[in-house]
Amino acid sequence: MRGTFRSVSGREAAALTGMHAAWLPDEAFRPLGSRHTVVYGQGLLVATVLDEMAIAGARHGGTVRHGGSGRDGTADGADLVLAVASGSTAGSGDPEGFALARRDGVTTLVADAPAGLLYGLYHLVRLGEAAFGPDRPMEHHRPALRRRMLDHWDNVAVHPVMGQVERGYAGGSLFWRDGAARGDMARLRAYARLLACVGVNAVAVNNVNVHATEAHLLTDRLGEVAAIAEILRQYGIGVHLSVSFAAPMTVGGLATADPLDETVRDWWSQATREVYRVIPDFGGYLVKADSEGQPGPFGYGRSHADGANLLADALAPFGGTVRWRAFVYNHRQDWRDRSTDRARAAYEHFAPLDGQFRDNVILQVKYGPVDFQVREPVSPVIAALPHTRVAVEIQATQEYTGQQQHACYLGPLWSEVLRFRPWGTDGIAVADIVAGGGLATVANAGADDFWTGHPLAQANLYAAGRLAWAPDADPLSILDEWIEMTFTPAGTSDPDRLRRVLHAVLDESWLTYEQYTAPLGVGFMVRPGHPYGPDVDGYEYTPWGTYHFADRDGIGVDRTRATGTGYTGQYPQPWADVYESPDRCPDELLLFFHHVPYGHVLHSGTTVIQHIYDTHFAGAERAAEMRRQWSLVADLVEADLHIRVRERLDEQVRSAEEWRDQINSYFYRKSGVPDAGGRRIP
Ligand code: GCU
Repeated sequence: MRGTFRSVSGREAAALTGMHAAWLPDEAFRPLGSRHTVVYGQGLLVATVLDEMAIAGARHGGTVRHGGSGRDGTADGADLVLAVASGSTAGSGDPEGFALARRDGVTTLVADAPAGLLYGLYHLVRLGEAAFGPDRPMEHHRPALRRRMLDHWDNVAVHPVMGQVERGYAGGSLFWRDGAARGDMARLRAYARLLACVGVNAVAVNNVNVHATEAHLLTDRLGEVAAIAEILRQYGIGVHLSVSFAAPMTVGGLATADPLDETVRDWWSQATREVYRVIPDFGGYLVKADSEGQPGPFGYGRSHADGANLLADALAPFGGTVRWRAFVYNHRQDWRDRSTDRARAAYEHFAPLDGQFRDNVILQVKYGPVDFQVREPVSPVIAALPHTRVAVEIQATQEYTGQQQHACYLGPLWSEVLRFRPWGTDGIAVADIVAGGGLATVANAGADDFWTGHPLAQANLYAAGRLAWAPDADPLSILDEWIEMTFTPAGTSDPDRLRRVLHAVLDESWLTYEQYTAPLGVGFMVRPGHPYGPDVDGYEYTPWGTYHFADRDGIGVDRTRATGTGYTGQYPQPWADVYESPDRCPDELLLFFHHVPYGHVLHSGTTVIQHIYDTHFAGAERAAEMRRQWSLVADLVEADLHIRVRERLDEQVRSAEEWRDQINSYFYRKSGVPDAGGRRIP
């Protein structure tokens, strides 16, 4: 089978590109590759499964046979059966799901559709030898979220300020270089394979900020998108495009982009029809409108429902979806005006529109009300549109969490978001609300040899996919999986030490980053444009709407209904009251919701000012401990990988100390309160 459908398989591609393999090294396939396997089913994704198995068999001594399209054929002698059996009661009832059982020495995986077979294959790889042990009763697997997406902020042409990839910390792009398609299909195939392994089924290839060059991907440069789609489709991934609301003018030559104008509607229909002619399984459009300078329906006095529905109508005949971002706020705010609250904006714009969107619109909402900070409350918008499909957006690219210079495993943050229950413990969770709209992750991979710049940032890409499949999975178990699938510790001289160290570096790294940066949910304290490293007042007197309001007496933003901006009123109960009360508000979000004196006593028993000192000393120490831990595995991982991580940890330690000293000095100078521990504050 190998070679029938393509010239280079995903695994060969990974090898050919000569990069660090990320997860799915050959060794991970040993348990499957040493078996006798028969595969039933037809189609592109079945061919991908056959490819994987053929290579694994050749390498590890097993065999693979294609048993044909149906499951009637014989599986004599096989110890692994992988079968697409549509309509079978043995399947999972979900085209992406699968059923798995082991009986009489044969492991059987049955899927209703080829996509399920592919996901089942990677599930077996994760199980390893455990898939071939004692009998196991039938278990069913299916993704909790239907749409599991990665958004690439690829600029196609190099942007004078943002570079090739906006907020990209992993070298260049996987798709374009200096305005031209890279054409590195082997690399792309290897990437698609990694994504399929973690269940990603949708990718947007270009930046949500659509500039003049990228606007043409929709029209005369569609062929470049089709070439990407051609590869990704072999791994069950649908391609999406970010489009500019002004495209009818900028690339269509019309005089308006008014969503209610007939010529505009015709233009989008025509353009969309052409997209589907070239890419029949195209996923849809992603739109950032009326946000940070992007054009949108407000320019024509129309609502965002008018805007989204315009594109939805163009996509509907082809089954496509428009993902409309809720990241809409005034980025030209007057910092003197304390009544305007950026956190309120998305809810104010979108909650009143509930029920007005077409069925094929998904409202894509950032997990917090502001902007991907290390700690924010979960956005109230997610719970505010019961008649609208909502997706939650997270950021694997570490814009505000160390820019892939710092090790910061974000699985625990995302897990908290997905498990958050907006109506309290008896209500449903965010993951339930977004079951149909899904999880969209701003991607963190690029042209870098380790895929993500910081090799340990791969864990974030891995976790984003896995949490979209299983939002209730324990993020530390996901880390276990990633460690096993990437480093195959069993093949090293000291598997336990390697596992222990990777956990010691990553398990608490999100909380560590939180400790040494902006305190108690207040956010930012970085420089606009390049939010890396401390700059306490960086945003304070800017139009961006993100302030901490520190003075000699206290710090924080009063977002209460009683005396502040009223933002707490956007939450349902119990949170509306929990967040309203400085006594009930969780410590870690206190300064997001309240302006308090430095002497305010937290639930932890310490004062706000002492908490600031303590966490900053502790955070910098923990960063140093992460570096010390990493030094213990120099003999267990590839030398170049070890060096890369060591260099980044050196920088993390330096940066954490800088954060510690700037934050502590700033608040000591503002408050005049000495550190109870008598430690040195410069
Ligand atoms: C942040 C980020 C921008 C990005 C924006 C968005 O503000 O800094 O680079 O364009 O989010 O999500 O649209």
